[in-house]
Amino acid sequence: MSDLALPPGPRGLKFKTAMKMGLGIYSFLEECHENYGDAFSLLLPGMAPFVWLADPAQVKDFFNLKPDAVDQSKLPIPIDLGDRQTGFLNGKEHQDSRKIVIPPLIAGRLKKRADVMHEIVEEHLNNWKVGDAFDTPRKVGDVSLDIAIYTLFGLREGERKDRYAKLMLDWIGAATNNTMFAIGTLYGPFKFRNKLHRDYLKQTASGKFGDGKKGLLPWKQAIDLKVLLADMMREDIRRIRRENDETAIDMFSMMSRSTYEDGTLLDEERVIAEAMGILVGGHETSAASSAWHMLWVLKKPEVVAKCRAEVLASIKEHGKFDALKICELPYCNATLNESMRLTPSAVGTLRYLVKDSTFGGITIPAGTNVLAAAYLIQRRKDVWGEDAEEFKPERWLDGGFRPGPFEYFPFGGGRRACIGSNQAKQQLRIMWADLYRRIEFDSPYSNNDEWPGQMQVSGQTEPQDGVPVTVTNVFPADIGYPLEKVAESETA
Ligand code: HEM
Repeated sequence: MSDLALPPGPRGLKFKTAMKMGLGIYSFLEECHENYGDAFSLLLPGMAPFVWLADPAQVKDFFNLKPDAVDQSKLPIPIDLGDRQTGFLNGKEHQDSRKIVIPPLIAGRLKKRADVMHEIVEEHLNNWKVGDAFDTPRKVGDVSLDIAIYTLFGLREGERKDRYAKLMLDWIGAATNNTMFAIGTLYGPFKFRNKLHRDYLKQTASGKFGDGKKGLLPWKQAIDLKVLLADMMREDIRRIRRENDETAIDMFSMMSRSTYEDGTLLDEERVIAEAMGILVGGHETSAASSAWHMLWVLKKPEVVAKCRAEVLASIKEHGKFDALKICELPYCNATLNESMRLTPSAVGTLRYLVKDSTFGGITIPAGTNVLAAAYLIQRRKDVWGEDAEEFKPERWLDGGFRPGPFEYFPFGGGRRACIGSNQAKQQLRIMWADLYRRIEFDSPYSNNDEWPGQMQVSGQTEPQDGVPVTVTNVFPADIGYPLEKVAESETA
């Protein structure tokens, strides 16, 4: 680290700072912003300093950082996704890698998946019954997991799909839980990630799959499950290459057929690493965003009524739930934008600096983790107006404020922006439209000012202990929510 000074921030015992962050990251960031200004630094045990940037001018420089100023392989993330996965690559290798993972997600291919995404949502909702009680990120996460498996492997049902779903969910749970994050922090996240990867390769080479259960070593289960999951993926890579069916456009088939610049096929571990990255990058993020969204709409029955009316009007106009048309509904989309503005699951977007770099006039030393603080910027009154802290989907409608890329960035930005943002938006739009239309909920959080703390799950910020809901009404798929009831709820 160079001898440049860090921006101010709370000092004292590092573990105390970590605890304060763990207990409620949103309020802790607000407190630091108020006390130390737009750039502040936090010192946490076992990690390089974290500098948070809360001014759009700083974020502009952040998203325009030159590739040689950062080294993402040093990110403090203690999850073994594999050697050379996109999120940890740098420079040309990183850009080349994005060219491999992005093609299955381009607009034309995404649109072709919209109807199946809707069918998957319907299959789940058809099983929900009045009185069912559940925790939002988990139950809604089951829907996004099925959509992820369909997008990734093209699988809708059957024994293989079920096996993938179970292994993926179990692996995410075992590899990204708080114990693994705590051990990773003590061990050093970078060293820990590499250790896990070496152990995974050794176990794979020995041909010992393990039983996938917990063991004496806290990381045993995560390694066993990754070995089992990767083995399934390896079988699929080999089958896809044998069949060489160019009409198969699921992500895994397209990545398995991808080549390096010299024309050789990607090595198998590379394809596996990208699939693991897409799984981690896409699963908990969508579940966490839905949990926050649920919390907002539970408190805003008038917003739900407007969304429901918009969905029903679209069904009436097009004669069916046309998933692509549903994705274009302005009020429903504004509602999702608004929950991601006020409660982004990724509170900040991270770069590891290897060169001293200047952000809005403040120079931050190399050897630092720098974050563009989405949570703080997306609530700034000088950007969003005096009502910045209020949940108002109307602000996104025609004639309203249009934020720039340094003022609203729940999916990050610059050359490392989320590759799955359109996939995520499409699936959230379809799923929430169907939820507004078919399901009514009650919750301890309904219609009051109760607000949960926050917890970290797989690196995402989620409502503390989830958002418990009980299903109070389920309307059949072919009828939808009765129109007269919409009118009643609007006038109530
Ligand atoms: C609501 C859901 C999602 C949210 C909030 C989200 C958020 C983010 C954020 C904040 C970043 C960091 C961007 C940056 O560093 O500038 C990111 C990167 C990434 N996301 Fe997402 N994401 C979501 C869904 C998805 C999905 C569905 C996929 C896969 C299909 C995905 C794959 C990735 C990948 C591979 C990266 C790394 C990109 C790179 O380093 O070049 N994400 N995401």
